Amino acid sequence: MSTAIPKDIDATLDLLTRGNYIADRSLATTLFLALKMGRPLFLEGEAGVGKTEIAKVLSETLSRPLVRLQCYEGLDVASAVYEWNYARQMIEIRLAEASGDIDRERLGQDIFRNEFLIKRPLLQALEVAADGAAPVLLIDELDRTDEAFEAYLLEVLSDFQITIPEIGTIKASQPPIVIVTSNRTREIHDALKRRCLYYWVDYPDAERELAILRTKVPGCEETLSRQVVAFIQRLREHDLFKLPGIAETIDWATALTELNKIVLEPETVDNTLGAILKYQDDIQKIQGSEAAKILEEVKHDMAVSGS
Ligand SMILES: Nc1ncnc2c1ncn2[C@@H]1O[C@H](COP(=O)(O)OP(=O)(O)OP(=O)(O)O)[C@@H](O)[C@H]1O
Ligand SMILES: [Mg+2]
Repeated sequence: MSTAIPKDIDATLDLLTRGNYIADRSLATTLFLALKMGRPLFLEGEAGVGKTEIAKVLSETLSRPLVRLQCYEGLDVASAVYEWNYARQMIEIRLAEASGDIDRERLGQDIFRNEFLIKRPLLQALEVAADGAAPVLLIDELDRTDEAFEAYLLEVLSDFQITIPEIGTIKASQPPIVIVTSNRTREIHDALKRRCLYYWVDYPDAERELAILRTKVPGCEETLSRQVVAFIQRLREHDLFKLPGIAETIDWATALTELNKIVLEPETVDNTLGAILKYQDDIQKIQGSEAAKILEEVKHDMAVSGS
């Protein structure tokens, strides 16, 4: 499979479809531009709408390694960029001592060589594979880190280089394909956003969500898939603490298929709400009469449209 980036927007859409990712044209356009211009793609959106998946699909369809940096509070350079392997450095020093051949200056240089370096994701992402293709670097959930780390990233993302005081500057011969995601629990700094192309990943419309279900849960009956999608779409209009994402739609359809259901019934909906709602307050709000009402509306709409 080719590691070459797609030549236009249609080819980008095809690439995503090959990876079982159903995207709309606006996302494919921004992704195409990011690939073409060699800029990081910054994806923001609610949980479970398919942000992380884009990086996974790109890595798979472009046959490039996926280097993933999962962000969390307190993430530091030692975990994200590099760390010296102290244990191995100590052994090297002991061996030199034992052999009685200690040239302090040379030893000082010897223990700060590449082989004593533990490369963490950002440094790994600057390395190009033997076939000359740069990896896909996924910086996932950037909003969980602190601003100091974000500032560090600025330099990496603009120049694709990292400076290690003992060795010097390491620069990527070919920049990686970078995907940054955020759930927007806090605003990411403008300076970082400016270096990226931005895209807000929204909930899909009914047609696209149905296409996703057909791809991801092919065993789900057509009528059931349509009901599930229509139900979820209506549920997203409710004032809930956490609206269901695409991940929840897929989970629910899978759960219902496991239960051998071919259509939605009020009782089944009530008993399986845990697949789509993850907060007790939300479940209480919907379970029972509200769920039955949504289901009635769904069935009515489908009868009217003849689907
Ligand atoms: N457009 C799509 N086409 C096919 N599958 C999709 C699509 N969007 C999401 N999915 C599926 O939905 C699930 C959730 O996607 P993903 O983990 O990428 O969401 P996310 O936005 O990163 O969520 P979170 O913010 O919780 O990390 C995955 O199993 C993915 O395969
Ligand atoms: Mg994610």
